[in-house]
Amino acid sequence: MNIPVIAIDGPSASGKGTVAQRVAAELGFHYLDSGALYRLTALAAEKAGAGWDDEAAVARVAAALDVVFDGDVVLLAGEDVSTEIRSEHIGVGASKVAALPAVRSALLQRQRDFARAPGLLGDGRDMGEVIFPQAELKVFLTATPEARAERRYKQLIARGEAADLAAITADLAARDERDRNRLVAPLRQLPDAKLLDTTAMGIDEAVATILRWWREK
Ligand code: C5P
Repeated sequence: MNIPVIAIDGPSASGKGTVAQRVAAELGFHYLDSGALYRLTALAAEKAGAGWDDEAAVARVAAALDVVFDGDVVLLAGEDVSTEIRSEHIGVGASKVAALPAVRSALLQRQRDFARAPGLLGDGRDMGEVIFPQAELKVFLTATPEARAERRYKQLIARGEAADLAAITADLAARDERDRNRLVAPLRQLPDAKLLDTTAMGIDEAVATILRWWREK
């Protein structure tokens, strides 16, 4: 079946998630937050006592993930973990388990299954390259490291969490480094992906740009 797919890839805190969800809603498409699957895997591994570097154990956890996505709510084995998976600690764990090839394989089909009529917007790092190489529109959404650190900082403060800009900047840099330099599905802009730099751009403009690209297809 030929389900229309839009693939949006890019680094953390680029505004990708917010923009992607809005575009999906505008088009009435399903939405895949693939980062959430890696975050859930990191959390489930931790709960199961499996180290984030134990490839075989984490891959087993990934293959057996009992997850329900219901709007903004994410249930892991029936427990609401929506807030827990967004912590910086789990973000770091996600980027560690995401570097393990067996974990990525274990999550491959689960991600492809999100492609259902009338269409899908996939958000992640390897949507356009590995999961949906057939995607009609591929977008590489990014912003400067400074802008991204600032956004993450404001997000944490707004949530009432403690935040330290220098620590966030260092953390993002380390995660970028892991995502770009890993052997499997490294983060990079594909030759057939359109670049959307949101450093000096609001969410509305980023959403409108992607919708225009989609209409032009
Ligand atoms: O996008 P988010 O920050 O939630 O992703 C958490 C981590 O999961 C990323 O740092 C990245 O290492 C990993 N990830 C990935 N491939 C994806 C989505 C996320 O490797 N498609």
